[in-house]
Parts: sequence; structure tokens; C-alpha cells
Amino acid sequence: MEFPADLEYQSGFDNHFSSEAIAGALPRGQNNPLLCPYGLYAEQISGTSFTSPRKLNYRSWLYRVKPSVTHEPFRPRVPFHGKLVSEFNQSNSSATPTQLRWKPVEVPESPTDFIDGLYTVCGAGSSYIRHGFAIHMYTANKAMDNYAFCSADGDFLIVPQQGRLWITTECGRLQVTPGEIVVIPQGFRFSVDLPDGPSRGYVAEIFGTHFQLPDLGPIGANGLAASRDFLVPVAWFEDIHRPSYTIVQKFGGELFTAKQNFSPFNVVAWHGNYVPYKYELSKFCPYNTVLIDHGDPSINTVLTAPTDRPGVALLDFVIFPPRWLVAEHTFRPPYYHRNCMSEFMGLIYGGYEAKAGGFLPGGASLHSCMTPHGPDTKSYEATIALGNEAGPQRISNTMAFMFESCLMPRVCPWALESPYMDHDYYQCWIGLKSHFTCEVGNERNQDLENRNGKREIEGSDVKLE
Ligand SMILES: [Fe+2]
Repeated sequence: MEFPADLEYQSGFDNHFSSEAIAGALPRGQNNPLLCPYGLYAEQISGTSFTSPRKLNYRSWLYRVKPSVTHEPFRPRVPFHGKLVSEFNQSNSSATPTQLRWKPVEVPESPTDFIDGLYTVCGAGSSYIRHGFAIHMYTANKAMDNYAFCSADGDFLIVPQQGRLWITTECGRLQVTPGEIVVIPQGFRFSVDLPDGPSRGYVAEIFGTHFQLPDLGPIGANGLAASRDFLVPVAWFEDIHRPSYTIVQKFGGELFTAKQNFSPFNVVAWHGNYVPYKYELSKFCPYNTVLIDHGDPSINTVLTAPTDRPGVALLDFVIFPPRWLVAEHTFRPPYYHRNCMSEFMGLIYGGYEAKAGGFLPGGASLHSCMTPHGPDTKSYEATIALGNEAGPQRISNTMAFMFESCLMPRVCPWALESPYMDHDYYQCWIGLKSHFTCEVGNERNQDLENRNGKREIEGSDVKLE
């Protein structure tokens, strides 16, 4: 179904929105009248417990032609999907501290829709106990045909890298272009059409919490992602007979299907603060150092999914957008780093300043908890060759991102065994040579080498010439 070029949206983050596709369809003065306008059914969708504090309480009221409960029983989906994980353990995924990097996965030529093309790369925790995350990727080329998808496990933050997404949700329709992101909260039913054909992207799914805008602290009242740049759909519905329409529900990482004979996109009006939304990354207002040193990447946080511990994220969504580098007598690319958090990176377009090659649009890397990472040899040597005289430099035409989590991810076997795995990734740091120049150090080293050499000779049966 064709999406209009001028889709309407409402703007704001965490607003209490209202929208009606037919004037007067929203009940006035109450949520659940005996009879709703136009004979609609009232249905609430709760994204938090009823008793969550008001500032963290998410729910919306949907007024629909038929309620979502009208369907046949859920049954395990046939064929079995097999590459979605929501509870990470030794039976379905591996722990590895190795730096991992993947080349871009090619989009298959055989007909593949968003769900069939979705696979989990890594994750931690469990959707059952409502704490954890999964990172998925997708390659697909065709619309979801006569079915809608829904994750009971968590919120989907989708980062398209190739191909637009036409997403129909119960709250209305969103067009999402590479360079934009979209969040579909837990429980919402949605269908994905791919108007550009071959498509590819990334998904972060979070269990048990929702994304927030980060606090700005001393930055002040403005900066980073602005509330008004988040766009929410307006009510849109179809009231048509759809024989054998299928709801595919992801529940504990498994897929279940239920048949119904009508479209789930039959919500004529809705109001609430639990909604799908999208955001264009080029609208991000980046902050960074203007004199010396390198800001920590948290300065580029677009959205954060918090844990109960202050400042510790279940999952941060961080971007590396076009920006000026101006720091004086400073190593400007990202510093060498070991992190108690784990970092999954992707690249939407362009290059990434810390990697002269090998990290490509559509590819990915994973540097887990306390695994060293940083600029590759070429990037390091090129940077120090510029010396202190490097002038202001604009990084242009790039959009890399990071999913960063306090949990230690386990990696799925199909990701570790993928033909797109870059087994030579470690080589990019092997060439980093010692630039150590201290005379005293050299004397100490020579002395140590002499003593070690003597010990080796004494401990060996082999006579050295
Ligand atoms: Fe890092």
C-alpha cells in the first residue's frame, strides 16, 4: 500500500498526544464510556505497571473498530524462525572477550520480509525477568504480506541503514528513511513495507524499560536531541475484511501466530503517551570539546534506557554525527579504551574516524566489557603525523552509532560463524609500534634484555652461537 509523500506527524517527546482520524471519535471527559463514539471499542495498552510513578507511567487508549482480543488461539509459528533470542545463556549463545567485527551482510535475493530477515546478533539478560537487551540486524526485500508483528519482549529501536521503511502501526503510519530511527514500543502491532526493495538495518530491543532523553546537566536546557524533533503518527485506520490475517507475536524470543479476519490497524482515534515515534539524526545538536582533550562518547547520547542505578544505562543509543574537531594539541580520534560497559557499533553511511578501513556501512563491531579497542594503526599514524598544527577539521558525511550497555553480551552462534565475520580484525592494531623514545628507558630495556638473554642461555640445553 502506497504511503503518501506528505505523511502527517505530531511532534514532541513524552507528550500526552491525542489524535482522531474522524472528528469526534475520541471520547470526551472519560476514557471508557459505556458506548464510545461511532460504536468503537475502547482498549488500553499499558507500557508500564499501573502503579509506576506518574513521570514514568506510559499508557495509551485506543478506540478501534474491533478489539485486538478478537483472534484465534496463538500457535507456534511454522516455519520455526530459530534466530531470535530473548534469554541469553550457554545453550544459545557464547561469551567472548575478543574484539568482533562484521562486514555488511548482503541482502538476500530470495523473497524475505522484515521478520524473516531479522536475526539476533548478541544480547544479555532475559525478557522473562524484564531486564536485558537484544541486538538484532535485518536484511529484507519485500513487504510483510497480510500479517503484523508485535514483540511482547521489548521496545524495538530500529536503525535503517539501507532502504526506507513504511511502518503501519496501531497509532498510524511512519515513513523512516536511513538517517532516521524509529522506536516501536513493546506490545504495539506493526507491519513493515519496503518501498525501496533491498533493505538492511539494525535493531536494539530493550526488556523492562523504555527510552528516555538523557539529562543535560551543565549543558543546560537545550542541546543534543530536542523533544520537538521527535515525530509521532496521527491516527489512521482501515476497516476492511482481511481473511486469514495473521498476528505474529514474539514472546520470550519465540514466534507465535494467531489468525483473525480483519486488519489490526483499525484504530480510529487514540490518546496517551505510549506511542511509536521517529527521529531524524541530522537534527541532533552535538556538543564537544572546544579546547583540549576528547569528550566521552556519552556526550552524543540520543536516547537512554536506564537501569535502577543512577547514570548506568541498560542501553544507550549514541551517535557520531558530522561535526567540527577543533581541540588543540590533542589526539582527536576516540581514545584507546577499556570499558566496563559493552559497545556495539554500526555505521549508517560514510566512514568512522577511528577506523581507516574495514568498518563499512551496514557492518558492525562489538567490543565487550573491558575488551581493549581504539583507533587502528593507520588512523593513529595519520593523526600523529599531522602534529600540533592540525587546524579545525570538519568530519562530514558520516553517521556511526553505538548501542552501549552495562550488561555483558553473549553472541549468537550464527553471528560468530557468519561468513561476514572479519577474522582479521585484530590485525588493525597489530601494527601499532612503540614510539617510546626515552633514553633512560632505552638503557633500562637494554639491561633487562641482556639479563633475560643470559637467563635464557643458562636455562637452555641449546648452545647459542
Ligand atoms: Fe569505547
